[in-house]
Amino acid sequence: MTTRTAIVTGGASGIGGAISKRLAADGARVAIFDINGDAAKNAAAAIEEKGGTAIGLAVDVTNRAGIDAGIADVGARLGRPTILVNSAGITLAGPTLEFTAADWNTVLAINLTGTFDCCQAALPGMIEEGWGRIVNISSSSMHSGVARMAAYVSSKAAVVGLTKVLALEFARNGVTVNTIPPGFIETPMLDGAKAGGVFDMEKQLANTPVGRIGQPEDIAAACAYLVSEEASYVTGQVIGVNGGRNT
Ligand SMILES: NC(=O)c1ccc[n+]([C@@H]2O[C@H](COP(=O)([O-])OP(=O)(O)OC[C@H]3O[C@@H](n4cnc5c(N)ncnc54)[C@H](O)[C@@H]3O)[C@@H](O)[C@H]2O)c1
Repeated sequence: MTTRTAIVTGGASGIGGAISKRLAADGARVAIFDINGDAAKNAAAAIEEKGGTAIGLAVDVTNRAGIDAGIADVGARLGRPTILVNSAGITLAGPTLEFTAADWNTVLAINLTGTFDCCQAALPGMIEEGWGRIVNISSSSMHSGVARMAAYVSSKAAVVGLTKVLALEFARNGVTVNTIPPGFIETPMLDGAKAGGVFDMEKQLANTPVGRIGQPEDIAAACAYLVSEEASYVTGQVIGVNGGRNT
């Protein structure tokens, strides 16, 4: 992977953070796009301290002009990005009958439209290179649904559909597009959901066959495979990494 440049959205924290570290350790030049620019720069600096190549940029995935500018900046500084991992996401929970249109739109704008816009912005460069890898981080919640999470679960189910469409459309361009729906992964997002009482974690753990909560590195390992050269025959797939909870 040493000749590749990767963009990881939401790469300043949690799953995106672990993916950024892993891809850099595997030899990719990594650009971290995060709405929290300082955190993105700090995460990139930590990668560089360990001998990797990384830059952090303040990019809000709901701002298409900002995405385009970020991709141009990455191209100039690290070389054209041909790997895109969409991990930026938020969760807002609440009873469906009380859920506001503003909250619905916010969740969809980041989790779904943000993912689409980053794909649309990065794909032309991949097509020109005749090689590309896109991994969209969806959620295992789309397998089963989660009460009081209509916007989040809808956005993540839609990301699965989007992944399948893009895989079909760009397969002949050497671009693979896959999605990882993580199960429960120990990150700041999960901490927030636990604090908000969204999940009964003891019950969830009891329903997890491998008997542990996942770590961000579990997702990063699957992602590292999907963006590798040897995964060129894997596209349009939903690769669950969830301790066996959903199959
Ligand atoms: N943690 C879990 O258990 C779990 C389970 C299933 C799916 N996921 C998904 O994994 C992805 C990563 O989640 P995480 O647990 O690492 O969460 P996290 O909160 O630790 O990280 C999310 C990152 O996205 C960034 N972000 C938020 N809005 C953004 C925007 N508009 N533009 C750019 N960056 C933005 C945040 O600043 C943060 O750095 C999310 O898409 C989430 O839905 C997480």
